[in-house]
Amino acid sequence: MENSKFNRYTITAALPYANGPLHIGHLAGCYIPSDIYVRYLRSLGKEVAYVCGSDEHGVAITIKAKKEGITPQEVVNRYHEQMKKSFVDFGISFNHYSRTSSKVHHETASGLFRNLFEKGEFLEQSTEQYFDEEAGQFLADRYIEGTCPKCGNENAYGDQCEKCGSSLSPTDLINPKSKLSGNTPVLKETKHWFLDLARYTDFLKNWILVEHQNDWKNNVLGQCRSWLEAGDGLQARSMTRDMDWGIPVPVEGAEGKVLYVWFDAPIGYISSTKEWAAEKGIDWEPYWKSKDTKLVHFIGKDNIVFHCIIFPAILKTHGEFILPDNVPANEFLNLEGDKISTSRNWAVWLHEYLEEFPDKQDVLRYVLTANAPETKDNDFTWKDYQSRNNSELVAIFGNFVNRAVVLTHKFFDGKVPQLGALNDIDKDAIETLKAFPDKIAASIERYRFREALSYVMDFARLGNKYLADTEPWKTIKDDKGRTGTILNIALNIAANLAIVAEPFLPFTAAKIYGMFNMEGLGWKDAGNSDILETGISINPAALLFDKIEDHVVEAQVNKLMESKKQNELANAVAAPMKDMITYDDFAKLDMRVVKVLSAEPMPKSKKLLRLTVETGLGVKTVLSGVAEHFKPEDLIGKQVTMLINLAPRKMMGVDSEGMILMAEDRDGRLRLLQPNEHTGNGSTIS
Ligand code: MF3
Ligand code: ZN
Repeated sequence: MENSKFNRYTITAALPYANGPLHIGHLAGCYIPSDIYVRYLRSLGKEVAYVCGSDEHGVAITIKAKKEGITPQEVVNRYHEQMKKSFVDFGISFNHYSRTSSKVHHETASGLFRNLFEKGEFLEQSTEQYFDEEAGQFLADRYIEGTCPKCGNENAYGDQCEKCGSSLSPTDLINPKSKLSGNTPVLKETKHWFLDLARYTDFLKNWILVEHQNDWKNNVLGQCRSWLEAGDGLQARSMTRDMDWGIPVPVEGAEGKVLYVWFDAPIGYISSTKEWAAEKGIDWEPYWKSKDTKLVHFIGKDNIVFHCIIFPAILKTHGEFILPDNVPANEFLNLEGDKISTSRNWAVWLHEYLEEFPDKQDVLRYVLTANAPETKDNDFTWKDYQSRNNSELVAIFGNFVNRAVVLTHKFFDGKVPQLGALNDIDKDAIETLKAFPDKIAASIERYRFREALSYVMDFARLGNKYLADTEPWKTIKDDKGRTGTILNIALNIAANLAIVAEPFLPFTAAKIYGMFNMEGLGWKDAGNSDILETGISINPAALLFDKIEDHVVEAQVNKLMESKKQNELANAVAAPMKDMITYDDFAKLDMRVVKVLSAEPMPKSKKLLRLTVETGLGVKTVLSGVAEHFKPEDLIGKQVTMLINLAPRKMMGVDSEGMILMAEDRDGRLRLLQPNEHTGNGSTIS
């Protein structure tokens, strides 16, 4: 069981950017894993500070504000509250959820910057940075986009290519473009404060690649290795930016500059701990400064360098802080085969999920853990969601607990029956029950949550199998004592199951605790076959899980497809403009409002309709390639627009004497162009 060299735990989950609602990728990446870990520690009776908060600075926020035409403060206010609520709704049990605009945070981050500054740790350098002359602004990080020099992705950001994962600096980009104006930026001198990361290389190599070579995850070690062993070594990183949104750089000569968001955000863990401790009236410092504190950062893979290299370098330089014992980063979760994307609305939003599945938080927690992207990117599909719910949660977990409780009510009036003589099946079940908690704990402690959850389900399977093997519904006919023994054991398996499932499925565990009137029990009680004493009353069975029908998940998939379509339309770029023409060129076109008199399909043609139209100058015949878009009756009697002086052209033996004008969107869909009111046939268009 959990290493006794630690007396307290500081567990952090990456501060989410307050620039949009939370989605399933957030939960799967770091919030569910950290919550499982923390609930397990609390169940063991450990002292834990589980902290998080909204990341409210940086370019992610200012770009969103610009897009919506509101201030950055308005953006963060809106999403901070929404995210905070989603976490509560899904049982993510932070001790404290702060925000980086808080006063405590501004002071803490400024204080740390000054501490390093006064020690002379920063390299003060003037370098050339991209500047948007039209916007009058330097272009930090995501304000600039261009082609990734490594993989050719045309939409790489100034700090990172999301396609190949390379970390970049703006000057690496090929064809850089300002996100503000779309213009090509110019280079301009500006002064910044850099952290000289190269000086920490030896320390970091030893700490990560040697000391932690066996306990950190391979994906994390791999990324660290590629940074630390890169040919040109670790580059100095600027810890300041030319922006007006953020924490002002607290030194002289830094007007108009703020702290780099990746300098301030991780310090948010410390600020959040401070706020929590102050509310509780305890000292925050042991949580960050005592050697007997275990610090663990839960993050997604795009945050690895910041948590394993940059933040530790900052903490180390300061000197008083402990370093993380582990940084269990997850890979990414995709959705129905495609990368989750806020801007493309390709996501399952937590607040929307909850509207449609108000009592199924645990189902989502379950699926996201069972299919967690722990070692590689994984895919969330609604089909998998449905089948895990129906064939695992309903058929195994729910079914077992339900049977144990219902049979106890049926045969024993809802009282835990007495244990009689044990046969081999009983003894086996009890032996297995004893072994499970340690097995599950060992996986949790190694951050292998999907493995741990699979053991929890094996434990539920054990319960089901025990009932199937002992058949209490049959033994009741002639041996009530035997039936009582069976149900006593089954109920105790269920009670144990609730304890070991609680970190994963807290809402479900609470229901089982409620059924069994269990209070104040924790991991230390798991493994005992007499948690529920003989004679105590249990409550009627509560519904734990219920079947999800096909149409329910199909509706979810349709909703995604619809959003994809909407999004494609919204983002569709209009066809490029044709070459310039003169007014005289334009004046040559004779366009008129005409009335369709008749329309009929052309024999042997799928595409053509043969129309006769009244042009005001007489009736003309036109062949129009719209048969796949309109039926004759859609056109007959309507006023449309037509180019009437196009030289006649023979098609399929018929002279076409002009062209009907249509609007065509990017999908190739056609719309008629009609006057907004009835007008005389032959009205000119100019
Ligand atoms: N906001 C960042 C992201 O979403 C994570 C910040 S983690 C912290 O990628 F350490 F900086 F807080
Ligand atoms: Zn790339």
